Amino acid sequence: MARDVLVLGGGGREHVLAWALTRSPSVAKVVTAPGNPGTAELGPTHAIDPTDPDAVAELAARLGVDLVVVGPEAPLVAGVVDALAARDIPAFGPVADAARIEGSKAFAKAIMEAAGAPTGGAVATGDRDAAYAALERFGPPYVVKADGLAAGKGVRICTELDEARDAVDDALVRGLFGAAGSQLVIEEFLDGPERSVFGVCDGTEVVLLEPAQDYKRALDGDAGLNTGGMGAYTPVPGFTLSEVDHLEDLVFRPVLQELADRGTPYRGLLYAGLVETTAGPKLLEFNARFGDPETQAILPRIGGDLGELLWQAATGSVAGAELSWQQRAAVTVVLASGGYPGSYPTGVPIHGVEAAAALPDVEVFHAGTRREDDRLVTAGGRVLAVTALGATVAAAREQAYEATDLIGFDGVHRRSDIAAGV
Ligand SMILES: Nc1ncnc2c1ncn2[C@@H]1O[C@H](COP(=O)(O)OP(=O)(O)O)[C@@H](O)[C@H]1O
Ligand SMILES: [Mg+2]
Repeated sequence: MARDVLVLGGGGREHVLAWALTRSPSVAKVVTAPGNPGTAELGPTHAIDPTDPDAVAELAARLGVDLVVVGPEAPLVAGVVDALAARDIPAFGPVADAARIEGSKAFAKAIMEAAGAPTGGAVATGDRDAAYAALERFGPPYVVKADGLAAGKGVRICTELDEARDAVDDALVRGLFGAAGSQLVIEEFLDGPERSVFGVCDGTEVVLLEPAQDYKRALDGDAGLNTGGMGAYTPVPGFTLSEVDHLEDLVFRPVLQELADRGTPYRGLLYAGLVETTAGPKLLEFNARFGDPETQAILPRIGGDLGELLWQAATGSVAGAELSWQQRAAVTVVLASGGYPGSYPTGVPIHGVEAAAALPDVEVFHAGTRREDDRLVTAGGRVLAVTALGATVAAAREQAYEATDLIGFDGVHRRSDIAAGV
């Protein structure tokens, strides 16, 4: 019997999740909360706070959904999956104690070390003198991280010791990150290209997804400020699914075993952030959810039933499960508000989404939009994620940029070098 699924969240990642679930044969209906104008075209939306565990459990029970898929990290860390479990509602996403693998960088490092997964050296401390000593021990470049969730702003990489000490003082003395920065992790710097791999986990077993390469900086040539992500492409030459399967035994299974041994088995999407060092891959961090915008590039390539795989992970086992993948490539280009990642206006009218979406092999995913009367307007920093499929990365890239050319709003900013030269 086909299932009803509630997708929690309202960004581009949740739009593509809802879209891919709608296309899954095992899924009857997709509901989103709070959703956005994009997900509203796929099914009903419900305006609740996704980080309120009681509100989420109440809604899921009232709708009688078979499965809840949690998009962002904040609801996971807030204990939404625990509240659903208390009502016997299956959820794809870890319980709060397992989501600490993203919510606390010190916890993540402790798990990596206990699991014997490769990572750099690190010292976790809330003491200024101990932090200063760790800086001297590891040497430059200095890596200073707030332990808790800091909206992507909690990491400082410094070439000078003074600057690194200042970063320590920002967190521990001046309280710049509040409670999230009352503990710090001082790390060894890992040198090499950054990669990420996503695994669908059932507590012990994992099914890896085809990797994507993302672009974090605001401007072409990886210049400008760090953002949530300006684009992505897949497949990544030299880092395709068949080339990363050793990471199942090197990283995923030992980490899942460690979490299970601690009584908090991890069901959900485990995102491993890695650096390809000359000594092999080393873990940088874990996230407890799908990456955005990599997911907008990855999911459109799935040939099989994503809904069935997420159901198996949430309720049973993914051992032996496999997703089929289309041979085609995908490129995602993010259209952002002028000024992002700094301050930017909202409520700016958006034109051309329908024309772009009407192009063959193009999907337009809503990230930060809302409807005002009958108009679509901007409502966030990252506004739309435009994905195109093609026979090659180059062909997908051309189609993605052709689509973004049809979309306009005042101040629109995009990178022009996503997937260039691949
Ligand atoms: N130990 C490290 N060595 C080198 N670069 C690092 C290190 N830790 C973090 N970085 C850089 O900082 C970025 C953000 O760090 P990360 O741990 O992923 O935190 P978050 O994504 O939660 O802000 C990484 O993507 C990487 O570019
Ligand atoms: Mg990161």
